[in-house]
Amino acid sequence: MCGIFAYLNYNVARERRYILEVLFNGLRRLEYRGYDSAGIAIDADLRPPVTNEKKSDYGSGEEEMLPPYDSLPPLVFRQEGKIESLVRSVYFEVDAMDLNLEQSFPVHAGIAHTRWATHGVPSPRNSHPQSSDAWNEFLVLKETLVRHGFTFESETDTEVIPKLAKFVFDKAREEGEQTVTFSQVVTEVMRQLEGAFALIFKSAHYPNELIACTRGSTLILGVKELIDDKIRGKLFHDVKDLTKDEKPKELFFSSDLCAIVEHTKKYLAIEDNEVVHIKDGCVSILKFDYGKEKPASVQRALSVLEMEVEQIKKGNYDHFMQKEIHEQPHSLTTTMRGRLKDNSVVLGGLKEHLKTIRHSRRIIFIGCGTSYNAALAARPLFEELSGIPVTMELASDLQDRQGPIYREDTAVFVSQSGETADTLLALEYALANGALCVGVTNTVGSTLARKTHCGIHINAGCEIGVASTKAYTSQIVAMAMMALAIGADRISTQARRQAIVDDLSNLPYKISEVLKLDGEMRDLAESLIDTQSLLVFGRGYNYATALEGALKVKEVALMHSEGMLAGEMKHGPLALVDETLPIIVIATRDGCFSKQQSVIQQLHARKGRLIVMCSEGDASSVRPVESCKVIEVPQVADCLQPVINIIPLQLLAYHLTVQRGYDVDQPRNLAKSVTTQ
Ligand code: AGP
Repeated sequence: MCGIFAYLNYNVARERRYILEVLFNGLRRLEYRGYDSAGIAIDADLRPPVTNEKKSDYGSGEEEMLPPYDSLPPLVFRQEGKIESLVRSVYFEVDAMDLNLEQSFPVHAGIAHTRWATHGVPSPRNSHPQSSDAWNEFLVLKETLVRHGFTFESETDTEVIPKLAKFVFDKAREEGEQTVTFSQVVTEVMRQLEGAFALIFKSAHYPNELIACTRGSTLILGVKELIDDKIRGKLFHDVKDLTKDEKPKELFFSSDLCAIVEHTKKYLAIEDNEVVHIKDGCVSILKFDYGKEKPASVQRALSVLEMEVEQIKKGNYDHFMQKEIHEQPHSLTTTMRGRLKDNSVVLGGLKEHLKTIRHSRRIIFIGCGTSYNAALAARPLFEELSGIPVTMELASDLQDRQGPIYREDTAVFVSQSGETADTLLALEYALANGALCVGVTNTVGSTLARKTHCGIHINAGCEIGVASTKAYTSQIVAMAMMALAIGADRISTQARRQAIVDDLSNLPYKISEVLKLDGEMRDLAESLIDTQSLLVFGRGYNYATALEGALKVKEVALMHSEGMLAGEMKHGPLALVDETLPIIVIATRDGCFSKQQSVIQQLHARKGRLIVMCSEGDASSVRPVESCKVIEVPQVADCLQPVINIIPLQLLAYHLTVQRGYDVDQPRNLAKSVTTQ
């Protein structure tokens, strides 16, 4: 998933080296989203060497090349591969250009970008920032523009945007409009664009200005007041406090709150069709309305970010995945904080819609990957407590089939990032079909959060590891609370609901108990390090655990692994069983326990290499032979058991990855959130 970041210092002197480091750090915070190239643009103080590329755009002679505007062209650096490779190449080039890193700028606007290749291979040419021309007049239709004589140097679809900005600018100038403003240029560009985007513009024609705009993608403005003993004054609470203000400040744009939290907690989630313009240290917002000729000016209050900077750091852990697994007692506590009151569940974001949900004809869960698995784990409890039929949809499959969705349906969209393209397309489809759309997400201000009618934030905290761990358990708990809230009007299930609420309160403690299996799982990983494949059998509440455990192993340990419904074993998978293939059977206590005992016996009879997960104290009832590896876990209410049972499997996947020598936090070919279909 691409990521954008911009940093503007106003009335506060910052050296070039500092500005570069802020931009590089912004990129490092976006790194977890997945990328294969990166780039930055900063201001110059030297005229750059004239390259052949520039000659081709501006003539072929030996004459000195001058940019078509007064200031010097911004410097653009792009590099494929890791951010550190961009950092090295920037410092190398800066040195070669004799650029002064100590040069101080009282005002400066820098932009940075990570790119996940969709169109065109990862290469410096296809990396961002994309430029309008050789002089970088605009940094950030194709058909329309080709007709006006532009040539395209990169294979990215974004390239058309700066070219379009230059076209709009040049046209206005040709028509005699000498005072065309940056926001006029950008609103005109926006008018021409279709689809979802989040954009940041920097232009040599508008030095020290930045513009950001979005449609259907998350984009954040961060505001940092620089108040010291000498400068005391009104703090910024609202965008209007920033409209006529010369106080020193630092302003940030980013597609991710994680890149902003270390600078400031004051932020604004930019809404669809808003154009946010920073000029002379002032912020103005124009709202674009397609029906109207002129965009309207808007004022909005700034929000305060509830995220701690520690969340985006590894602390004493070796990897983010490891940290996030061990954080689960805490993340589950924050998921439930303030929501379990007097033995009942209070979900502010759903309160007004519970009646509609209770009257719906069907509840449809929609998600991808781990989020789908979390919904699958919550499904039985939803069916039990609501009495409403619940169906499951993988977001891409729903789109492929154009499956039926009706006005009487409640569609629950589950997504950690809130930005997964398949899930968002399914959301648009469900909205168009009139269903009540509920979001379950970890990301405040995400597209999912903004576009659904109502929902729950799972409050698991920033998840950086590509493999989702703490978000999975928080999603299950959030959905369990949702099921309790929906079923709260039923007297017949009162005792059951009470028992679940009691166990929810105990869950963080039980998770810290199960985390003590870390060493045992490390040893188990060692015994599995050379195996080719691993099967995981579950059923009932723990069918989802089998799918999710196998997904973790395959995505980070790069080992083939399949989660299977144990009830299906005899219908094919049994043929795979021999002494070499390791099979994990989940047989914790619930209504399916005796069936799982029988599965274990059948696998043992065929000499299966068994690893059994059971409730504490049950080892002797499940172990077919003394040599069979048994993982004993604490017991909780059956519907919450998946939250416990996934932990040893997360630990196993983590240790397998480390021992096999693979990248834990950024597994091969994967992005944290998948924003393309
Ligand atoms: C999780 O470990 C995976 N990386 C992946 O399956 C993920 O859950 C899926 O892409 C959905 O992402 P979302 O929750 O952000 O929508």
